[in-house]
Amino acid sequence: MAVGAIDLIVRCPVINIGAGPQSIMQTVLVINSKGGCGKTTIASNLASLFAASHLKTVLMDYDPQGSSLHWNNVREQSDCQPIHLIDAGHAKVGVTRTFQLSIPYGIERVVIDAPAGMCKKMLSEMVVKADVIVVPVAPSPIDIHASSEFIYELKLIINACHRDNIAMGIVANRVRHGKALYQPLQHFLDELRIPFVTTFSDSDHYVRAVELGMGIHEMSPQTVRLELSQWLPLVKWLAIRRAVTAQTSVVPLSSDVATSHCVSG
Ligand SMILES: Nc1ncnc2c1ncn2[C@@H]1O[C@H](COP(=O)(O)OP(=O)(O)OP(=O)(O)O)[C@@H](O)[C@H]1O
Ligand SMILES: [Mg+2]
Repeated sequence: MAVGAIDLIVRCPVINIGAGPQSIMQTVLVINSKGGCGKTTIASNLASLFAASHLKTVLMDYDPQGSSLHWNNVREQSDCQPIHLIDAGHAKVGVTRTFQLSIPYGIERVVIDAPAGMCKKMLSEMVVKADVIVVPVAPSPIDIHASSEFIYELKLIINACHRDNIAMGIVANRVRHGKALYQPLQHFLDELRIPFVTTFSDSDHYVRAVELGMGIHEMSPQTVRLELSQWLPLVKWLAIRRAVTAQTSVVPLSSDVATSHCVSG
């Protein structure tokens, strides 16, 4: 299993705050109210990439369908690096919501897999946790139209939650013939100054990876060369966002502070 050059980007830069080098937590929310656009695929691949890079990783599954939960159950039978899964899609009896969603000490990356068509309250709960938002968009006119409306709604929620510092990026997913279909969305995104981060091809390797409880970065690099190259821009963008978050943080980012930020709501 080789993560290679991507591993270097994922793990750097380590931020030096006060007493010595410390890592800060980054929470990535993968979200779109449109069903089937690739949220779980991207969230599970991202979590496995972090884990394979030896970062302590949480995957938070907000979807009652439990697709990420199922994927991780399969993963636990493999020799892949473990991921701590939090089932946020089902209320746990006898514990508070805050306790149910609490992040274990020392976690370095959190990936949130959002469900389709969520209510405003749940949207806000996820937005307040996030440092970065990734919105996968599938290449059909219906998906693109619905996604534009959703992105607009998400912007309003981000403003209402006073999270203006959250970065949002779009990933064109399951693309077969270039990005021409996305042109109308591109204009809309330009106005909102939201970047198109990368394009993922429609590839059976993603389907195979899910069956194995793996991510694309844990498969043989020769087989998934194209997919790996398409992940690089996203990985770099997340690393840059993480560095920006660290620079603009006004409080020492010890794990305790990071944890209390994440369990709010
Ligand atoms: N880049 C891709 N190439 C090939 N198949 C893909 C790709 N991305 C996603 N898929 C497949 O598309 C289907 C839907 O993907 P996924 O479950 O990730 O979407 P979702 O947005 O999480 O759906 P839901 O809204 O139901 O939670 C799955 O069968 C998945 O394997
Ligand atoms: Mg899903």
